Amino acid sequence: MSTDKAFYLTTPIYYVNDAPHIGHAYTTVAGDVLTRWHRQRGEEVWFLTGTDEHGQKVMRTANLNKVSPQDWVDRLVENAWKPNWKSLNIANDDFIRTTEPRHTERVQKFLQSLKDSGHIYAGKYEGPYCVGCEEFKLPGDLIEANGEKLCPIHSKPIELVNENNWFFRLSAFVEPLLKHYKDNPDACQPESARNEVVSFLEGGVSDLSISRSTFDWGIPVPWDTDQVVYVWFDALLNYATAVGLGDDPKSPGGAKFTQTWPADVHLVGKDILRFHAVIWPAMLMAAGLAVPKKVFAHGWLLVGGEKMSKSKLTGIAPSDITDHFGVDAFRYYFLRAIPFGTDGSFSWEDMSARYTSELANDFGNLASRLTAMVEKYCDGVIPAVAKDASLESALGATVSKADSAMCALDFQGGINSIMEFCKRVNGYVTENEPWKLAKDSANQLQLEQVLYNTAESLRALAVLLNPVMPGTCEILWESLGANVTMGPISKQKVSDVSRWGQLPAGSNVTKTAVLFPRLDVSE
Ligand code: ME8
Ligand code: MG
Repeated sequence: MSTDKAFYLTTPIYYVNDAPHIGHAYTTVAGDVLTRWHRQRGEEVWFLTGTDEHGQKVMRTANLNKVSPQDWVDRLVENAWKPNWKSLNIANDDFIRTTEPRHTERVQKFLQSLKDSGHIYAGKYEGPYCVGCEEFKLPGDLIEANGEKLCPIHSKPIELVNENNWFFRLSAFVEPLLKHYKDNPDACQPESARNEVVSFLEGGVSDLSISRSTFDWGIPVPWDTDQVVYVWFDALLNYATAVGLGDDPKSPGGAKFTQTWPADVHLVGKDILRFHAVIWPAMLMAAGLAVPKKVFAHGWLLVGGEKMSKSKLTGIAPSDITDHFGVDAFRYYFLRAIPFGTDGSFSWEDMSARYTSELANDFGNLASRLTAMVEKYCDGVIPAVAKDASLESALGATVSKADSAMCALDFQGGINSIMEFCKRVNGYVTENEPWKLAKDSANQLQLEQVLYNTAESLRALAVLLNPVMPGTCEILWESLGANVTMGPISKQKVSDVSRWGQLPAGSNVTKTAVLFPRLDVSE
């Protein structure tokens, strides 16, 4: 194992009360794109996703379906969640399930150590609880309709909890957390999220009930086995248990922890910002562990102006979209169309329009025109290395813009700058009219230069778009013959993309399959 600190990125671990919808896919694809980008920067990377399997929400769904919670989660994880990530080409390094012993054992050990160091005490909890959020609510958080108090996220009645529980001294960490966010503005992004967290902290925070006694689908509290650990306390710890929390530094788990901790980015939706930016770092502070470098809360995919949700059955399955547009267009669309951090709606019309103009016309056609012309005019072989100063400098500017945008999680900005370069290359082909040059053999040298410059630009586009659309870029890479002459596309470095003249003369080009087929409008 390398000793370099890895770029460690996590997604939320999703509740397995139902199959994934495009909201979950949005977060996980974003994580996949960012980690692929960092891998292509030559960094060590660790990308974790997984499932959150305890608590009342999952237990009740299992009960409704007349199976045990364990059977229910096993079935959903194996038949729905894991296959979904595979079909979206998600390259996670690990998948944690909170019912695994590697998790439950480390959670118990962590909890016992907080108890031993005085951060946990016995108390009584009385107040509203939303099972959809699995959250103790403050009266001020609720909305009222027809005389009933509702959770504003799930629009469902809250339940009243009245239990003797174990409490975590969360209130002791308000000042350290405020200082943390003041000193490290990057630690919670975007800025709107940080402002929300700071004003929440400034409003004062009470201690947190971290156990439940009225049901048993959870991890037993080690010193009081009549209680199970509150599902969020259990779930947040996944980020650390999955990489060996508490293990001997000389053991494999301990080495993994040293390599990954603290996490570089916890990617979450804004619905679960407070858990990640208040409770989680406080738990870590209590244990004397480093807090994550960044929590990034993105916006919601909306349906009819409300958050798309499993609980409300408004979810669109990713396959509904990928069956029509393909996996790579799906991966591209949401990050391209919605500024990361802002809410957005899925629109079939907008997606069709972008698919046709940006993917099929700008990118796909460029690739098929170039490969067809190299076949026709150069016997399918990349001609001698040539150079176009203007394309070269446009590429240099593109790479530096794209790299800083991607590293700042501005996916839209990063993708836009790459697609602008794609347009620029299309303009170059149109201006130089290689099909006209081909009519007179006296122009052969000029024709070859134009084709080389276009092919070399596509070489760069394939590398830059690979994190977003790995399937398509691999096909393009192979059709340029670059897999043979330059090695695997995933090994191409962002820092090297703009060095002009890398695609070697003599690479064998084959006409690409159509990268983005015309949409079937009959559906
Ligand atoms: O909250 N738009 O799990 P969850 C955008 N188990 N993103 C969405 C979305 C939408 N409409 N709906 C869901 C949980 N997401 C906990 C997390 S982590 C220690 C425990 C995404 O199944 C988004 O990332 O309710 C959101 O935060 C997450 O799924 C919530 O998934
Ligand atoms: Mg949820």
